Amino acid sequence: MKKILKIISSVNGAVSKSTQLADAVIEKLTAHYAGSTVKVKDLSQQRYEHFHEGHLKVYRGMGEVAPEIVATVEKVSDDAINEVMEADIIVIGVPIYNFNVPSTLKAWIDHVMRAGRTFSFAGGQKEGLVKNKKVYLAVSSGGVYSEGPMQAYNFAVPYLEATLGFIGMTDVTTFWAEGCDMPGYKETALQKAIDKVAV
Ligand SMILES: Cc1cc2nc3c(=O)[nH]c(=O)nc-3n(C[C@H](O)[C@H](O)[C@H](O)COP(=O)(O)O)c2cc1C
Repeated sequence: MKKILKIISSVNGAVSKSTQLADAVIEKLTAHYAGSTVKVKDLSQQRYEHFHEGHLKVYRGMGEVAPEIVATVEKVSDDAINEVMEADIIVIGVPIYNFNVPSTLKAWIDHVMRAGRTFSFAGGQKEGLVKNKKVYLAVSSGGVYSEGPMQAYNFAVPYLEATLGFIGMTDVTTFWAEGCDMPGYKETALQKAIDKVAV
């Protein structure tokens, strides 16, 4: 039995390919780990603020800030971090937007990456504090990045692997529906990716 956190970052609702791929991963997970629970977090609905001065001051201890701002800013980040900490498995649906992750997903990451909470530099050593998690990325893209001329534009997956790894989530498996908007690929892209899903 596992606690699964499903994170949606597409704005495409039910027809989203990254969400459908994430669902395929979750279907396999719930079949494999009987009695698992799934908590859904839809970042297209639950939006995280872009950083402002209050975040800088609270997260980085850089200057005075009104107590009510400290409380709200900390609570939003604490809640996001607690959801991550409570999960055994995190499945993230990731459509590629402009060669990167959706800004809603980046904003969530900005609130989860917090010194002293999810990573530490105690004693001059970097340590990721989010331990014992399994992460699956369910990626969909209009183009193809595993081969051909767009390989050099593959920023999103290395970014997520590096960022999640930095805070301790080093066990990341990626399933990717590539070429979802390209004739010759789009007809089969999602199904091919779903067929590869294994947990
Ligand atoms: C605003 C926007 C930007 C996009 N940028 C890219 C891109 O840079 N590279 C790419 O391969 N596809 C790009 N696409 C296409 C999507 O990645 C593709 O349609 C994907 O399957 C969408 O996933 P979803 O169905 O889960 O929303 C973009 C789509 C949108 C809406």
